[in-house]
Amino acid sequence: MSRPIRAATLPGLVVWGAGGHARVVADIVRLGGEFEIVGFLDDCDPERQGAAFCGATILGGVDQLPRLRERGVDHLILGFGLIAARLERAEIARRAGFRLARAVHPGATVAGDVGVGPGSLVAAGAVLSPGCLLGQNVIVNTSASVDHGSHLADHVHVSAGAHVGGDVEIGRGALVGMGANVMSRVRVGAGAVIGAGALVLEDVPARTVARGVPARIFAVEGR
Ligand SMILES: CC(C)(COP(=O)(O)OP(=O)(O)OC[C@H]1O[C@@H](n2cnc3c(N)ncnc32)[C@H](O)[C@@H]1OP(=O)(O)O)[C@@H](O)C(=O)NCCC(=O)NCCS
Repeated sequence: MSRPIRAATLPGLVVWGAGGHARVVADIVRLGGEFEIVGFLDDCDPERQGAAFCGATILGGVDQLPRLRERGVDHLILGFGLIAARLERAEIARRAGFRLARAVHPGATVAGDVGVGPGSLVAAGAVLSPGCLLGQNVIVNTSASVDHGSHLADHVHVSAGAHVGGDVEIGRGALVGMGANVMSRVRVGAGAVIGAGALVLEDVPARTVARGVPARIFAVEGR
């Protein structure tokens, strides 16, 4: 049996990712004080294994998951923003027996009845109004807002500075680009991409790209 990776009282957590978004995630996790970060995983560059990163070590890639479980680490959070990769990695992590941790920045404003699913991240300055529901693995990024009664399905990413009105439904794996505005009661289909700075007045079909002010549909995504 391997030696436990930590002797701390806090449960151990690994961040999957070792780039800019991982730094943001790590900061929020540490501010939350619920977990000790035991390290980061980087699948992109094997040469970074063992390197110091953001106050811990890059442990390696996906092959490290079973070893971490053996050592008693059972919480994980994704530390990159690319939605397709998040969908895939979350499933791998779940199958490896990890629980996805939530991370809510103490400087976010979250109404008392908001539901935040496992693996979801709410960044600094974000505002979630009453009745909002976030599925699993959702990102509400820096200074974004989601108004009353809006529902974000699993793996949605609301980018920095974007604003989602009241009673909006956003489907699984959709991206709302930086600084975009989605008007109240709009429905954004699964896998849709809202361009940065767009103003969305009407429903956006699944797997399409909408951009501009007002937003128009410009392409059908392959996702
Ligand atoms: C809308 C978007 C998906 C289009 O991406 P793309 O298909 O690769 O588009 P291109 O970069 O090839 O540009 C195609 C055209 O759209 C225009 N365009 C690109 N993004 C635009 C946007 N956000 N709003 C308006 N026009 C945009 C380009 O100027 C170009 O116009 P042209 O054909 O007249 O030259 C992308 O630009 C975008 O905004 N993504 C959101 C990114 C984001 O906010 N990520 C958050 C995490 S960092």
